[in-house]
Amino acid sequence: MVDDVIKVKDLVKVYGDLRAVDTITFDVEKGEVFAFLGPNGAGKTTTLEMIETLRTPTSGSIEILGMDVHKGRAEILKRIGILPQDFSSFDRLTIEETIRYYGDLFSTDCDIEKLIKLVNLEEHRKQLYMNLSGGLKQRVGIAVSLVNNPEIVFLDEPTTGLDPRARHDVWDVISGLRA
Ligand SMILES: Nc1ncnc2c1ncn2[C@@H]1O[C@H](COP(=O)(O)OP(=O)(O)O)[C@@H](O)[C@H]1O
Ligand SMILES: [Mg+2]
Repeated sequence: MVDDVIKVKDLVKVYGDLRAVDTITFDVEKGEVFAFLGPNGAGKTTTLEMIETLRTPTSGSIEILGMDVHKGRAEILKRIGILPQDFSSFDRLTIEETIRYYGDLFSTDCDIEKLIKLVNLEEHRKQLYMNLSGGLKQRVGIAVSLVNNPEIVFLDEPTTGLDPRARHDVWDVISGLRA
């Protein structure tokens, strides 16, 4: 049997006169790295944020980890991780401090060492956030999205604006997550 962790059916989101998401249906299996590609304004963030329980669909259904997105909100939020589009953090905290800060907010048993290793930031841990390159900032954001040890992680535009090398580094981190 296929283990679908996300099931989206006939999903629609309308903003005033704009049909931003127009009847989409898809499933995501456990262990799958699933990506939406599309130009600016295609409706990617809107779709993600409806699945993340942050926006309300106009119609259609979303099931995540076996729960209806409307009914299971509190439980779903505990079990997913989110890297929002344009993630940014505190300029004057180091990488280590940044991850610890979010860990203290969202988790009771966050393993900071494990996260730093997972996103390959060991050498940079003492650097201030404001001095990091775009690629390193994104990797900090991925670590932050993992502080509650989520079962599903949502990354909105994790490589936008990065140079080719930094893109590959982020892809490597994502492959590592799946592994
Ligand atoms: N809160 C909102 N109110 C009105 N229109 C919105 C809102 N959020 C997004 N939109 C519009 O919906 C469309 C899809 O946006 P978005 O989901 O952000 O696309 P993407 O992430 O693919 O760039 C765009 O035309 C955007 O301007
Ligand atoms: Mg977007």
